[in-house]
Amino acid sequence: MTDHHHHSTEIDWDAMGPLLELEGEVQIPLLEQAAGWLRGRSGGVRRVLDAGSGPGVMSCLLAREFPEAEVVAVDSGRELLDRAGRRAAGQGLAERVRTHLADLPGGLDEVGPVDLVWSSKAVHHLGDQVAALAALARCLRPSGLLAVSEGGLPRRWLPRDIGIGRPGLQERLDALNADRFTEMRAALPGSKSEVEDWPALLAAAGLEPVGTRTFLLDLPAPAPPAVREFVAADLARLREKLADRIDADDRATLGRLADPDDPEGIHRRPDVFLLSAQTVHAARRPGPDS
Ligand SMILES: C[S@@+](CC[C@H](N)C(=O)[O-])C[C@H]1O[C@@H](n2cnc3c(N)ncnc32)[C@H](O)[C@@H]1O
Repeated sequence: MTDHHHHSTEIDWDAMGPLLELEGEVQIPLLEQAAGWLRGRSGGVRRVLDAGSGPGVMSCLLAREFPEAEVVAVDSGRELLDRAGRRAAGQGLAERVRTHLADLPGGLDEVGPVDLVWSSKAVHHLGDQVAALAALARCLRPSGLLAVSEGGLPRRWLPRDIGIGRPGLQERLDALNADRFTEMRAALPGSKSEVEDWPALLAAAGLEPVGTRTFLLDLPAPAPPAVREFVAADLARLREKLADRIDADDRATLGRLADPDDPEGIHRRPDVFLLSAQTVHAARRPGPDS
């Protein structure tokens, strides 16, 4: 492990395992659409790399979408990979889902060649995103597909006016989060700022962009318990990571929303929903015919 894993602004990914797995699980309907879309643009997939897999929800889904394929889940979080391994075993996929510990963009030498690389919300945690895409592209066979899931719309889980606090809470949290994200990126080792035009970044990494699609997760109110659990955990995480930015009113509102005993809280109110949109950008490694 390199030094930057001990930096104070560093995210403790292993500690986020339960939340990432829960998030992945509630997003399965969206991830399935994305996997189906990728299947339609790739043929004869025998090996798949999930780069920055976290707890492996999509790794397992890709193994089911491509039943001939071996999937390699790569992450720098050892406990996240253990989680991915347990998940695969629980689904009878232990033979086809492997895990590989690596600090991206390095550590991929023994992983390739693969027919498909999937990477969701991981490249933006790497300082030089074009270099990261290029490293992922090098794992591809000619004509292989790289799909990065980056961007989309901010998630929504409550109406604008929730009857407590000042209306527009989520929009204000989004604005605070945008600044925090900029600071997070600036603090990354080797940070390079780029116009976040993903097809252009994929082209800069030597690939041919082949399409961008946004997938929707639309779980209307009343939300089932797993969705409430996720929303409550997401909210608790926001409250923590934006602690020094949120004003006192909004902090109090978040406290009430997170309180399982408060009738206005996420656990008990009837209007909780989950609406999210995630964008996937696909690009192909030039093949013999191009
Ligand atoms: C926001 S999570 C996304 C997880 C999963 N792909 C998803 O979409 O839910 C980012 C993931 O990237 C991993 N990650 C961050 N920096 C990394 C690095 N330098 N090398 C490998 N993995 C890294 C984290 O451990 C974490 O699992």
